[in-house]
Amino acid sequence: ARPIGVAVLGMGNVGAEVVRILTDSDGDIRERVGAPVVLRGVAVRDASVPREGVDPALLTSDPSALVAREDVDIVVELIGGVELPRTLILAALEAGKSVITANKALMAVHAGELSEAAARNRVDLYFEAAVAGAIPVIRPLTQSLAGDSVNRVAGIVNGTTNYILSEMAETGAVYSEVLAEAGRLGYAEADPTADVEGYDAAAKAAILASIAFHSRVTADDVYREGITSITPADLEAAAKFDCTIKLLAICERLTEDDGRERISARVYPALIPLEHPLATVNGAFNAVVVESENAGRLMFYGQGAGGAPTAAAVMGDLVMAARNRVYGGRGPLESTYASLPVAPIDDV
Ligand code: HSE
Repeated sequence: ARPIGVAVLGMGNVGAEVVRILTDSDGDIRERVGAPVVLRGVAVRDASVPREGVDPALLTSDPSALVAREDVDIVVELIGGVELPRTLILAALEAGKSVITANKALMAVHAGELSEAAARNRVDLYFEAAVAGAIPVIRPLTQSLAGDSVNRVAGIVNGTTNYILSEMAETGAVYSEVLAEAGRLGYAEADPTADVEGYDAAAKAAILASIAFHSRVTADDVYREGITSITPADLEAAAKFDCTIKLLAICERLTEDDGRERISARVYPALIPLEHPLATVNGAFNAVVVESENAGRLMFYGQGAGGAPTAAAVMGDLVMAARNRVYGGRGPLESTYASLPVAPIDDV
């Protein structure tokens, strides 16, 4: 079969791991896809800086030109930010290319526009890595549970703050000391304010609420509180009551007395009993609990941040999109944002 050409935009923690996995496992991936998957180029800020294990000829500082190349079939967007990736992704989709992104800030605001462009051009737009790193949550919600009715999605979806709260609870350290370590371990966002003020979790809550309830919830619709005011004394006090404090994202479908449906999406540090399953989720791990009509309660747990775990989710999307291009299939996400107009509430 004709090779599938891939462009990777961005070589940060996740991009570097995607390039490594793609370079190392070409044979395995070819077998799973049914065609060779070939890295055509990697867009970086400064292409003159050599990158270990990467052929310098693949590096470019012109992402638009890379996206436009005839031999690029799939674009993997890992540059972060919102406006530049939005422009690049729209250009890719309009040119008939499939797109994989890990960009939660982008998807939490522009998922509607981007998924419409993907549907119009009959190509895939996948974003498993945008929520909870390695943990499959997007595909279960959009595919495995597509025939069920989800009522609630709740969990720990930010590795940095969970790492910070876990360390504070265990060692009594203050939050600023632990934040620096989370940055060193590659969990924190480029601007860690996004993590500690809850913006990252709120973006993920918007994405989860949108796909779980087949609606359009954006980051601004999500009630948000971060963890910056939590002190070691708060965690000690929680422990006295056999509780701990976790930054939770909670998305619920609520039915009003008049039968109208609304969505509540909120992120805040919550006191939870030690015997609750989420209380045992520590470090950069994430966990998401889904409650649905017929399936009942499901729990997804694993590494929610970090280069390699997040790259694993990107690679899964990449293999799916590549297979679709080889066999002529197409992702099922195009109708995801179409139905149920919902008035999000920003507090409960
Ligand atoms: N900064 C994010 C986190 C990375 O800590 O969870 C994964 O999205």
